[in-house]
Amino acid sequence: TAIQFDSFGLAPFIKKEEYEELKPQLAFAQELLFEKKGAGSAYTDWVDWASTFDPTEEEKIQRRAQKVQGQSKVLVVIGIGGSYLGGKMALDFLKSPWYNDLASDSETKVYFAGNQLSAMALRQLLRVIGDQDFSVNVISKSGQTTEAALAFRFFKEALIKRYGKEKASERIIATTDAKQGTLRAETTAAGYDNLVVPNGIGGRFSVLTAVGLLPLAVAGVDIHALLAGAAKAEQYYASKELSQNPALLYAASRRILYDKGYTTEILANWEPSLQYFGEWWKQLMGESEGKNQKGIYPSSANYSTDLHSFGQYIQEGRRNLFETVVRINQVAEDLAVPKMAENGDGLAYLEGKTLDEVNQTAADGVVLAHIDGGVPNMAVRVAKQDEASLGELIYFFEMAVAISGYLFAINPFNQPGVEAYKTAMFALLGKPGYESQSKAYRDRLQK
Ligand code: PA5
Repeated sequence: TAIQFDSFGLAPFIKKEEYEELKPQLAFAQELLFEKKGAGSAYTDWVDWASTFDPTEEEKIQRRAQKVQGQSKVLVVIGIGGSYLGGKMALDFLKSPWYNDLASDSETKVYFAGNQLSAMALRQLLRVIGDQDFSVNVISKSGQTTEAALAFRFFKEALIKRYGKEKASERIIATTDAKQGTLRAETTAAGYDNLVVPNGIGGRFSVLTAVGLLPLAVAGVDIHALLAGAAKAEQYYASKELSQNPALLYAASRRILYDKGYTTEILANWEPSLQYFGEWWKQLMGESEGKNQKGIYPSSANYSTDLHSFGQYIQEGRRNLFETVVRINQVAEDLAVPKMAENGDGLAYLEGKTLDEVNQTAADGVVLAHIDGGVPNMAVRVAKQDEASLGELIYFFEMAVAISGYLFAINPFNQPGVEAYKTAMFALLGKPGYESQSKAYRDRLQK
């Protein structure tokens, strides 16, 4: 496998017997998932999605990617939550957070929009695009998410201004539900090119569907290899044997720690190209688990940057934290520490090492310091930052959170709490249908 799960940093915190005690519950959680008997089972098609992936769907995605590459220097990907984070995370992981700056003339840049409501961000992105030819991929499973729909309206206006109404439509690809939602209706009426978000896969589990695959294919990612990595992972992480299944071991360890009062998990990385892996993971874990006043609070850290900020808290603050570190065994690019005649900076002792060796050693040191500070520690070691490894990594965390959700006896596949802010926002904005709540919300804000 491309992943090794390293649990040595748990030894001071979890006894072997504790895993034994959890085994029946783990078996039950797996049964609920694999036999589609658990809560939200209608949304578990991700479990064997990669291994059963329809090759004609892959061709469809590639054709659309080639069309975008042929017509545009820039693809604007509009979406929020699961319709955004997977694509952004994978692009950073497999290419670079500076992909757009490094892109050659023959490559199509990929920018993300509609993942907030900031006017400034939108205006600035329009300026960044400038007079470069651009296409739009609007992604929304429900087809009626305000952030995405509103950003789409602005980009439609910009496309129409630049290319005229008819040509503008040829630069839009909508990724949405096959039948339902406002975006599907608009797509059908306007005749946009489109791709389908499968009904049985929720937003935060959708990175390996057209949602993530089209933007990635446009950026030149080998989506076939990504899916192949996930397909292999389906076999590894289906094992019922705790010692053979790191996803199960990870889920079990988190649960045991939670019961001991470690209620916040930090997903840490040592590569800036994994920062959005943390963002993607936070949605996956937080939106899946945080229900019925239960669940582990997901947070993330970027090292060594954050060791010089809230690293202090991690080392000595309230002891309700545990840490999962995603480490890259073999970085794609390394640098030898320069040899200098002078030792004015006192760094001669690092000559002969590479920068990655220093980084890896710092990571080892932090594990020991954090264990000593009372922070249980796990590591997910990834062979390298390639498609096969990422496919496996994605599946590892998806499988773990599904099991974890069933251990918490909640539905890991819905997100009812997301509606609360929408109701208040719609009532305050005067959306038709929310008139009756409007006054109460305004009164509370004294508006
Ligand atoms: O995981 C989820 O289902 C959500 O976070 C959605 O991805 C998010 O709300 C965006 O929804 P949609 O794709 O319907 O616009």
